[in-house]
Amino acid sequence: MRSVFARLASAQRETRWHGMVTYTSALVTGASSGIGQSLARRLAEQGADVVVVARRGDRLKSLAEELRSHYQVSIEVLTADLTVPEELAAVTERLTDPDRPIDLLVNNAGAGSRPPRPLADQPLEYELGKVDLNVLAPLRLTHAALSIMIPRRHGGILNVSSIAGFLPQPQGATYAATKAFLTSMTETLYCEARKSGVHATVLCPGFVRRGEGGAHGGMRSIRLPEFVWLDRDEVAREAIAAVRSGEPVCIPGRHYRAAVKLSKILPRSVSYRVFERLWGR
Ligand SMILES: NC(=O)c1ccc[n+]([C@@H]2O[C@H](COP(=O)([O-])OP(=O)(O)OC[C@H]3O[C@@H](n4cnc5c(N)ncnc54)[C@H](OP(=O)(O)O)[C@@H]3O)[C@@H](O)[C@H]2O)c1
Repeated sequence: MRSVFARLASAQRETRWHGMVTYTSALVTGASSGIGQSLARRLAEQGADVVVVARRGDRLKSLAEELRSHYQVSIEVLTADLTVPEELAAVTERLTDPDRPIDLLVNNAGAGSRPPRPLADQPLEYELGKVDLNVLAPLRLTHAALSIMIPRRHGGILNVSSIAGFLPQPQGATYAATKAFLTSMTETLYCEARKSGVHATVLCPGFVRRGEGGAHGGMRSIRLPEFVWLDRDEVAREAIAAVRSGEPVCIPGRHYRAAVKLSKILPRSVSYRVFERLWGR
């Protein structure tokens, strides 16, 4: 029993005192707006070459021009719809190119329910599309990235999930379930790959202001108090720091960290009632 506690303490020390890893090249999906754009900016600011991926090539090109003019880095634009198998394959190919190695994969592209509705009222194809984008694409890219990172004994994977993955979310059943998958996969990966020099981190934000160019209509119609909103640049800053220091889970915002802790100790029946009231209208 004692040795179990000793090992736990040493694992925790390793995480806490782990030096910041430097990533010199990154591939960021969903970089044309919102959190992904902030993540790409932050990485370029820190000196990493970045491959930016999304469907809207025009937005990626203007981001690339902006970043090249500010920082001495290479920015590569890769226009792709990650739910189209051939386009996802092109991204995978770039990710695993041995001549141009990528040492940080950021799976950020994702979509919620627009508009939010009970599962029974959403078209099935629409829900399956979310599974393709939020689950299958990051799973395939993560698997491909590991095949090059583990032999090199160096790499990082940052998966953008949501606090929705910890909690029930009436009117967003598939979204919450896809994020639960991503959180669980990343935490397991953190345990599996750490010894091979590959760090996996899952980012679980609450409400983040998308800014200009983000998807519209995804946010609930209820009025939310100002304090619940997170700034996307601040979220990106915390997320990059977390993956560089080898933290498994990053939940930006003290109030969100407290809410997640509380949800773990509250009886599930109480959570159901709270979330039914909050979102179920
Ligand atoms: N905003 C929040 O409150 C919040 C909270 C928790 C978690 N998140 C998560 O954060 C991530 C980013 O979301 P965001 O809020 O920043 O939203 P956003 O501004 O709408 O960004 C979504 C990004 O994903 C890309 N994308 C969407 N569908 C795609 C597809 N089929 N193929 C390739 N790229 C695609 C979009 O680019 P194109 O349209 O150009 O393809 C865009 O760059 C998502 O995973 C989301 O679930 C957001």
